[in-house]
Order: sequence, then structure tokens, then C-alpha cells
Amino acid sequence: MTPSHIAIIMDGNGRWAEKRSLPRVKGHAAGAEAVRRTVEACREMGVKWLTLYAFSTENWKRSKTEINFLFSLLGKFLEGEKANMLKNGIRLNTIGDISGMPDNIVKKIRAIQKATAPLSGLTLTLALNYGSRDEIIRAVKKISSSKPADTQKAFEDALDTKGMPDPDIIIRSSGEMRLSNFLLYQAAYSELYFTDTLWPDFGKKEIEKALASYASRDRRFGGY
Ligand code: FPP
Repeated sequence: MTPSHIAIIMDGNGRWAEKRSLPRVKGHAAGAEAVRRTVEACREMGVKWLTLYAFSTENWKRSKTEINFLFSLLGKFLEGEKANMLKNGIRLNTIGDISGMPDNIVKKIRAIQKATAPLSGLTLTLALNYGSRDEIIRAVKKISSSKPADTQKAFEDALDTKGMPDPDIIIRSSGEMRLSNFLLYQAAYSELYFTDTLWPDFGKKEIEKALASYASRDRRFGGY
């Protein structure tokens, strides 16, 4: 069965560039093309939710040049994809503390979110200035003064992922096998899929391989 929600830790842009003796930013540029291919493949396959880890709370440790390049790439991606999203029923969503992102990016995101809000094809969620620990701490702060009857529901509603299903599968490219502060609460019963493919080489074939692996898994959610 096709998973409803695929979440991806896009890793290996730097190594892809290094292998080609190119500056790291070239790997990110190629990574943005992989994002386009992956969104398209997921849409074609009828996936309803695709969540991409695009900028973590830890990515601020990178050089200013690299950070600025990533933001500029994201700005271009948003501008370039707006028409495609509207045409193909793709709704834009974000998780993470967007207020920490540059104003011009926030404005672009808000405008596209508004324009694509009524669409019901694929929901593309970009995790931006996102870290699970930060998300959980913000959620705890939000509910700390209330005494909800249903604490689990109140907590889940305070997370950035409110209204989203938990990921069925979390994919990480580039051979690293860890979650790196991505959807830690939501990943409780997610299937994990790791591939050596570097993110810039990712696309439809890789999604198909991940989904074939997913189809062979026996999901018991603690039952039997
Ligand atoms: C990890 O590779 C990738 C990132 C930290 C950023 C992800 C960004 C993109 C895929 C490009 C633009 C995104 C969008 C949504 C248009 P890395 O730099 O950590 O690679 P390395 O581990 O090989 O150094």
C-alpha cells in the first residue's frame, strides 16, 4: 500500500559536491532539483503528505555563505514552484519556527500558503528552522498553564504538526542512520528507510525503492 505520509531527511548534498570537486553550494543547487523530482514523483504516486527537512535548528552552525545560499535557493524554489503547485493541487505547509527565518522567505511562504490553502492533492510540508526538541519545548510552553482533560491531544495539538498524520515512513539519504532531531515524537511508529544514495541523485526511482521496502513491512503498532 502507498504510504499516506512520507517524510525525508535530505542528506548528502555536500558530499555529492565534494565528489565532483565542486563547492558545497553546488550540491545544494542539485539538491533543489531532487526536491522538484521527488515532489512530482510523490504527487504522481498519490502520496497525500510529503514532509521535507529543509533547514534544521542546528543548520545555523553552518557558514553564513552556505546559509544565505540555502535561503536564496529556497526563495527561488518557492517562486519557481508556485504555478506548478496551483496547477497540480499541491498545498504548501511548514513546520518549525518560521519567525526565525528571513522576512522575504516568510512573506513568500505566507503568500503561497494562502493561495494553495484550498488545494487537496499533496500537502508539501517544509521543515524550516525546525528541530524536534525545539518543537516539543514550544508545545509544552503553550499548554503549561492549562489543565487539559486530554493531555495527549492537547500536546499533539500544540505541536507544529497539528492536523498532520504521523509519517508512515521516514527516508534518509546518504547512508547516515539517525533521525537528527526530526519528528522525534511523530516517528513513534514510522518505518525507517536508509539509502546510500546522496540527496542530489534522489528522484522517482529512489522513491519507488523506498515504497517497495515499505510494502514489505509488517506494521503492528505494538499489537500483533
Ligand atoms: C543536507 O546535506 C542538506 C541540507 C542541510 C539542506 C537541504 C536543502 C536542500 C535539499 C536544497 C534546497 C531545499 C529546498 C526545499 C528547495 P548536507 O549539506 O548536510 O550534506 P553533507 O552531509 O554531505 O555535507
